[in-house]
Amino acid sequence: MANQEDNLFKNVISHAKEYGFIFPSSEIYDGLSAVYDYGQNGVELKNNIKEYWWKFMTLLHENIVGIDAAIFMHPTTWKASGHVDAFNDPMIDNKDSKKRYRADQLIEGVIEKLEEKIEKEVEKAAKRFENFDRTMFLTTNARVVEYQKKIDEINERMKGALGRGDMADLKQLIVDLEIADPISGTKNWTEVRQFNLMFSTEMGSVADDANKIYLRPETAQGIFVNFLNVQKTGRMKIPFGIAQIGKAFRNEIVARQFIFRMREFEQMEMQFFVKPGEEMQWYEFWKAKRLKWHQTLGLGTENYRYHDHLNLAHYANAACDIQFNFPMGFRELEGIHSRTDFDLKSHEKFSGKKLQYFDSEDNQNFVPYVVETSVGLDRMFLSVLASAYKEEKLEDGSDRVVLKIPAPLAPNKVAILPLMKKDGLPEKAMEIMNLLKFDFRCFYEEKDAIGKRYRRQDALGTPYCVTVDHQTLQDNTVTIRDRDTMKQQRVAMDAVRSIIQESVSMAELLKKI
Ligand code: GAP
Repeated sequence: MANQEDNLFKNVISHAKEYGFIFPSSEIYDGLSAVYDYGQNGVELKNNIKEYWWKFMTLLHENIVGIDAAIFMHPTTWKASGHVDAFNDPMIDNKDSKKRYRADQLIEGVIEKLEEKIEKEVEKAAKRFENFDRTMFLTTNARVVEYQKKIDEINERMKGALGRGDMADLKQLIVDLEIADPISGTKNWTEVRQFNLMFSTEMGSVADDANKIYLRPETAQGIFVNFLNVQKTGRMKIPFGIAQIGKAFRNEIVARQFIFRMREFEQMEMQFFVKPGEEMQWYEFWKAKRLKWHQTLGLGTENYRYHDHLNLAHYANAACDIQFNFPMGFRELEGIHSRTDFDLKSHEKFSGKKLQYFDSEDNQNFVPYVVETSVGLDRMFLSVLASAYKEEKLEDGSDRVVLKIPAPLAPNKVAILPLMKKDGLPEKAMEIMNLLKFDFRCFYEEKDAIGKRYRRQDALGTPYCVTVDHQTLQDNTVTIRDRDTMKQQRVAMDAVRSIIQESVSMAELLKKI
């Protein structure tokens, strides 16, 4: 990460703590690695993101319903899903620094450096030549071609080793690439070992293997095992979807970058059950729909891109990520996967129960194919927070930090501020608050100078401030201030609701998708 972006990211993290969005978990005991708590403002923003997703899925699509499955599931679930045998990351330790790494990420680091070198050559050439043709340059410049060849070779070797589960070859690749530990600077590595990412615990009072259960590493399996329950009781006709928001747990080897990679996180997943043979058309449908959902938030269309998976998981016949331009660069925000009939078929095999759909038109039973959309709630939160965070220099030379959170997602929609704490202004302000609080989340504050209170609301991302002054007592007008423009206007008290309504409304936002 470049230094400037690095600093910005650090500022976002400390702002999140200072203003009650995110705290390190159990901080009084020095925290718990890669686990975070959402504070009084964070929980509101998080709930609003959930609402935006949940309403999009279950209100805008009459063929999608929701469920809320338990975190604990029968242990055979994870045998059937493949997680017990294959949900592994390759890990390696440096014997000098005692630090643990993901072997594939160390290798990817080398690839990233080569890619940076290519970009530098491109930048240099683009400055030199007027009619610069990037594609032509990439295929003809000898140095760039050499870098690209190296990248392809490394990629191929790494993917081959991962695919075969050949950890010795992965270690050899690290040795051949002369990768050194960034902390100790040495190449004194252990062997590479597979590390299963699932957390396990025991159920009941007897702690032996027979009672071992797992904390779910994805919410999707709770949907698959309930496929028939929902289809039958909801009289659902294919194609239809089941949506779910819930916690997932992964014992990530390298968990860092704040809430980007956590050990306890939340997913918003939807499994869409379709007729075999129709999955690719639905895959394209959901790819486009989900991108539109993201872009409608107004965080900048240029900040999203698709990243198609070239190496598919054994159960998928197509997969892509929607990446977001996070402070540390473009990274996965959401996954869209065409999972074939792998999960339902596997649960049929392990449970001995039929998980099929009867198509009355064709008069036949079949195991549906599945298209999945899966977005991390915490990553969504980070995408909103990081792009909303702005450090501004104002015309009068002063600075302000403002969170330009999309108004329907903002923790508070309006702050009600009596100019002074006397002369009946607080009482009048409470009167307004009592009018508005049923429709909008309001924040009341009477301490400090008004300018200071405006800045505080900017830092919290509150779209509007309503100020009550002596004139309000005479003519029932108030000042309303817009967070983004900082413009103020004098309006009738009764007009406040309609001024705010449209821009903070979740329904209006959903209509734009
Ligand atoms: N059911 C499919 C599935 O779980 P995934 O790509 O492993 O697929 C889906 O995860 C999404 O969950 C990711 O795109 C990401 O947003 C989020 N996610 C995954 N691991 C995470 C972690 N350790 N911390 C935070 N979010 C995570």
